[in-house]
Amino acid sequence: MLVRRKLWVVAATAAVLLLMLASQSIQMRHLLPLNSRTEASNRGTVVEPTVAPAVQTPPPPPGTIRSEKDGEEVEEEEEEEEEDEEGEEEETPVEDFQFPKPCSCSDSCVSDLRGSAWFSMRYDPNQEPILRAKNNFDPDALAWWQGLQRSGNDQTLEEVMAKMFQVVSPPTVETKPVPTRCRKCAVVGNSGNLRRSGHGKLINSHSFIIRMNKATTRGFENDVGNRTTHHFLYPESAVDVDHGVSLVLLPFKLRDLEWLTSALSTGHIKMTYMRVKDRVVADKDKVLVVNPVFFKYVHDRWTELHGRYPSTGMLAIIFALHTCDQVSVFGYGADKQGNWHHYWEENRYAGAFRKTGVHSADFETEVIRTLAKEGKIKLYL
Ligand SMILES: *[C@@H]1O[C@H](CO)[C@@H](O)[C@H](O)[C@H]1NC(C)=O
Repeated sequence: MLVRRKLWVVAATAAVLLLMLASQSIQMRHLLPLNSRTEASNRGTVVEPTVAPAVQTPPPPPGTIRSEKDGEEVEEEEEEEEEDEEGEEEETPVEDFQFPKPCSCSDSCVSDLRGSAWFSMRYDPNQEPILRAKNNFDPDALAWWQGLQRSGNDQTLEEVMAKMFQVVSPPTVETKPVPTRCRKCAVVGNSGNLRRSGHGKLINSHSFIIRMNKATTRGFENDVGNRTTHHFLYPESAVDVDHGVSLVLLPFKLRDLEWLTSALSTGHIKMTYMRVKDRVVADKDKVLVVNPVFFKYVHDRWTELHGRYPSTGMLAIIFALHTCDQVSVFGYGADKQGNWHHYWEENRYAGAFRKTGVHSADFETEVIRTLAKEGKIKLYL
């Protein structure tokens, strides 16, 4: 029955195409929206909230129109492909040039949108994860960010940023993929499941090693490695970082940017909503700040408005997806006994971070699992 229906559809499509050709009314360009469609949908910086449930079959995204590796396209997509291919033969005989591999890793590249419709519905390659001296902020995303954690403030974001970039160097790290680059990153969470994992050597072998909050390696090198390239933190979770490590500030409020400036210079800010470290040790020319607009993007597209805003762990993974060509994730979730604690804690029942209220741990866990299932991250549990 199905085959018959498909034959009918193909035959009908062919007939219509022939008629259109015969009447010379066909416009090949309209049959081939490939790149124009990609550009149009990606150009805006405004992020539309994604409310589609993860199980829903999405419309075919631009990148899956020609998928060499993926032989399991759903029926509807196959039918569309046939139409597209008919047009392509004349218009673009060597269309592979339109989708060269975006990175030089032999097996896969995160930013290669072929192969996972789920991923390409969420991943916006135009997002800029790092705050620069000059930014093209989406005003709505910025307004949302400013409402996250209020901090009585008489300065504008521009004023606060101008002062900050007098203390920290403008970022130089390249985030967008380059065809000659294969940047493999390890995102290392703080879960007790790292204990006795023996992942230290594997973690150390990555080019970027991202840790977060109170993470420490001393005494746990065999399980968590001893190299760190990026340490994600915010004022209330701050620690000193070693020479050569990039401190990456996750700003949840304007005050956090002021704190960074202060903590690396005068040390006059000692409070946010609680007492915080007034000084932090870090290379000022390696400091990075996550773009406030990126928080909104992760909230809309990845955690799909679950929780008030995404957790550090979630932000770090999505940051890595926008900075790296391959991403391995360690130290997320509960340990084998189902306990949620940090790997450096003896008390298995410590680390109540799962119940932090503002985040949706269950939904975030589901997103991380799906990223692994879709082949976008390697998840070590
Ligand atoms: C990590 O450990 C190795 C082996 O003990 C040592 O040679 C290396 O200097 C350490 N690296 C860091 C960043 O501590």
